Amino acid sequence: MDQVHSKLISSKTLVGPFPPFHPEDAGESPHLLFLKWYQEALKYGIHETHSMTLSTIGVDGTPDARVLILKDVDEAGWYFASSANSTKGVQLHNNPRVALTFYWSMIGKQVRIRGNAVPMDRERSAEDFLNRGIVARAIALIDKQSLILEDQQNFHSALADQLDRMEQAPELISPSWSLYRVEANEVEFWQADEERKHTRLTYERQQGSWAKSLLWP
Ligand SMILES: Cc1cc2nc3c(=O)[nH]c(=O)nc-3n(C[C@H](O)[C@H](O)[C@H](O)COP(=O)(O)O)c2cc1C
Repeated sequence: MDQVHSKLISSKTLVGPFPPFHPEDAGESPHLLFLKWYQEALKYGIHETHSMTLSTIGVDGTPDARVLILKDVDEAGWYFASSANSTKGVQLHNNPRVALTFYWSMIGKQVRIRGNAVPMDRERSAEDFLNRGIVARAIALIDKQSLILEDQQNFHSALADQLDRMEQAPELISPSWSLYRVEANEVEFWQADEERKHTRLTYERQQGSWAKSLLWP
């Protein structure tokens, strides 16, 4: 424990060097700046660039968060997929307000998105489902994500049952699988600086357009 503590207090963060960020050159739309930053992260070969934290509000008001995969980004928002019956799915049904957080440490970039998660229609959700690997689809067809699992063996046999079903009907689609789009109200771009003179640029949605502001670091 002592070793962990001394390691923690001596660990360095935001070592750099980082690519420069000039907020005066940022365009009018946060999704375009996000795509630019994303491409930069790809260029640096960052591992799992598309992992992000989705924060939700629990049915009792307690915050909740977990890592998910980003499925797409366009002018309308940021997309992820999960079961509508999972804990997060129930939370989203109850309260669609969410936050997404990305952090790409190698380039010192953090993006924070706040908005509402909106379920997409059956067709788009089915398309996402069919793009998943066979085991991922079989697990989604079990549709017990986040419920208590009494015995690991129950999972293995439920998985085998679904794989058998899929052999007969490979186009099976889980009715609860949902693609969600996070429609942002606020998007913040945070660029680290080795000397701690970080740059923050936020976009706030205002009557159909985006208002940009710098924030104190
Ligand atoms: C890198 C990574 C990617 C993940 N991607 C997804 C995903 O796209 N969809 C999903 O439902 N769960 C994904 N998970 C699992 C979630 O973090 C979480 O355990 C699961 O969705 C249950 O969350 P819930 O109990 O809040 O509903 C991923 C986990 C990790 C670590």
